[in-house]
Amino acid sequence: MTAQLIDGNALSARLRADVARRAQTLKDRGIVPGLAVLLVGDNPASQVYVRNKVKACQDSGLHSVLEKYEASMTEAQLLARVEALNRDPSIHGILVQLPLPPHIDAQKVIEAISPAKDVDGFHIASAGALMTGLPGFWPCTPYGCMKMLEAIGYDLKGKHAVVIGRSNIVGKPMALMLLQQDATVTICHSRTQDLKAQTLQADVIVAAVGRRNVLTADMVKPGAVVLDVGMNRNPEGKLCGDVDFAGVGEVASYITPVPGGVGPMTITMLLVNTLEAAERSAV
Ligand code: GUN
Repeated sequence: MTAQLIDGNALSARLRADVARRAQTLKDRGIVPGLAVLLVGDNPASQVYVRNKVKACQDSGLHSVLEKYEASMTEAQLLARVEALNRDPSIHGILVQLPLPPHIDAQKVIEAISPAKDVDGFHIASAGALMTGLPGFWPCTPYGCMKMLEAIGYDLKGKHAVVIGRSNIVGKPMALMLLQQDATVTICHSRTQDLKAQTLQADVIVAAVGRRNVLTADMVKPGAVVLDVGMNRNPEGKLCGDVDFAGVGEVASYITPVPGGVGPMTITMLLVNTLEAAERSAV
């Protein structure tokens, strides 16, 4: 392994300490930053995610409320809860955990969240703000990736970044953030004809597909920076990313591990966004 690790746990610890300091400053002014997390149904992965989000809030001195609902909850009931939280002054951020049960229109629920409380950055107003470079909330996972590049002092200006994956949650916002930092950006996806030809040109590669071994050593230019957003299990049941970590680690200059890379950064940026929402509400 020749690449240097970008340690998401260590960077998260530094950023969360700053969140805790800023939260205390707000508390001294009588404002406790508050996040509401809504979970509908009993998706096991979602249960773990929301538990981690609520615990992270507590650890950083943020107030959090976890609302768990049966999978049979109606869309109208969920919309009513979101609207009540929009009006609740003790809540600065609202997160509706996805996926939602199929009878609920997730986009409709996201659009019901006040953009001022959209700490996931999924509302079309947040997406539009990112696209135009206006202030707004950035989706937590790509935002965390940007913080990792910042942490290693990486200057994206004029560099070629390849994003593998085009989801609304990661791939598309990631590409816009890289573009905002003056990178030349290529988005690859399942219909890309020759992925390797693209990735071999890249100074920075972000893999966000959700499939093991999407990126292998032969696809990476020596010295490239590789960020792995994937969260998969290998046949032995061990957590792994989208990148062949051992192989690519011999070619890249920097690489993020799974676990302990982008994952903790996602939750950290949720805390940052929630704090930011509380700070904006306080001015
Ligand atoms: N499900 C998987 N990732 C996320 C996320 O970042 N936010 C929400 N709300 N749901 C998710």
